[in-house]
Amino acid sequence: MQRVHNFSAGPCTLPQEVINQLAAELPEHKNMGMSLVEMSHRSPEYGEVHQGVIALLTELLEIPETHSVLLLQGGATLQFTMSAMNFNPTQDQPGNYVVAGTWGKKALADGQKVGPSKSAYNSEQTGFRTGPTADQLQLDSNPAFVHYTSNETIHGVSTPPLAGVNVPVVCDMSSDFLTKSIDWNLHDVVYAGAQKSLGPAGLCVAVVNRDALPDSPELPSYLSYQKQIESNSLGNTAPVFAIWAAGKMLQWIKDQGGIEAMESNCAKRSASVYAAIDSSDGFYVPHANSESRSKTNVTFTTRDDSLTSRFLEQAASAHLMNLKGHRSIGGLRASLYNGLSVASAEALVEFMEAFRKTNS
Ligand SMILES: Cc1ncc(COP(=O)(O)O)c(C=O)c1O
Repeated sequence: MQRVHNFSAGPCTLPQEVINQLAAELPEHKNMGMSLVEMSHRSPEYGEVHQGVIALLTELLEIPETHSVLLLQGGATLQFTMSAMNFNPTQDQPGNYVVAGTWGKKALADGQKVGPSKSAYNSEQTGFRTGPTADQLQLDSNPAFVHYTSNETIHGVSTPPLAGVNVPVVCDMSSDFLTKSIDWNLHDVVYAGAQKSLGPAGLCVAVVNRDALPDSPELPSYLSYQKQIESNSLGNTAPVFAIWAAGKMLQWIKDQGGIEAMESNCAKRSASVYAAIDSSDGFYVPHANSESRSKTNVTFTTRDDSLTSRFLEQAASAHLMNLKGHRSIGGLRASLYNGLSVASAEALVEFMEAFRKTNS
């Protein structure tokens, strides 16, 4: 088999070493005569895997004692609803949302089903090309919480941490989780679907500041952060395969040099692709404004859109896969998560330059 350069937005490429390790260890866990995915999630062997993932996340992201790590299901999508339910928006204290792309818009729409919620920033009119600056945030006087998406996966727009907000801050970090350090003083809930930089789909990590949780409204048990904290996310059957695989990915991240190394590689990958766009004399056109550019999802088009399908065809022949932009905005998108090597980003840049030369 020839591994391709896989620029998928998620599920996405994982390091070959992690795939090999999963394949080698799947048939039998620690001389037990069965695989991990065949044993109880209450067994000591699984318990070790579960705690190992929490310990590695805590170590790599320097998660403080105040915050609990939850290993949940339902993807990042369930967190749109769950975060709103736990912070209990009311007429006097609505939920406030930064809407800088499709995912923020979806979070707001689900929040509105839970209780009064509105956008504190919305860049849809201008095509979702920017995140807010601090002075553009229009917060209510006393919102129940503020929700933002640190990286808009579809539009390739990044929003830096919201500073100076003195109500709980909830962040959907699905598409730049584990690519940078997190300032925990600025975040009360950070959640992320695993399938970008942490492993296969099926797991959603939520890191919750216990002190920020309001006295819980009576919630269904799965949807209560408080109950999930009390049960160590084991109130129901854990997604054991996804958690086990995440543990392998976290160990790989640690072995590579931790978050610092991830951040540096992330910067290298994205800088080289943006440089190819910026030096193309307008042949490639970036989607996001330069100050809001994502480091994990580079979105762009070709000057003449009829070239896009040729670009995709020829890229696929060069084993550069999944570069098609999301159907809602078209064009091209290169997703550059932790599992994608800097060499793969360089292969893309080489291809982009050759394609521009032959099609200019
Ligand atoms: C930023 C962001 N939020 C939420 C989601 C939804 O995640 P899930 O499919 O895990 O529900 C995605 C999926 O791509 C995403 O990129």
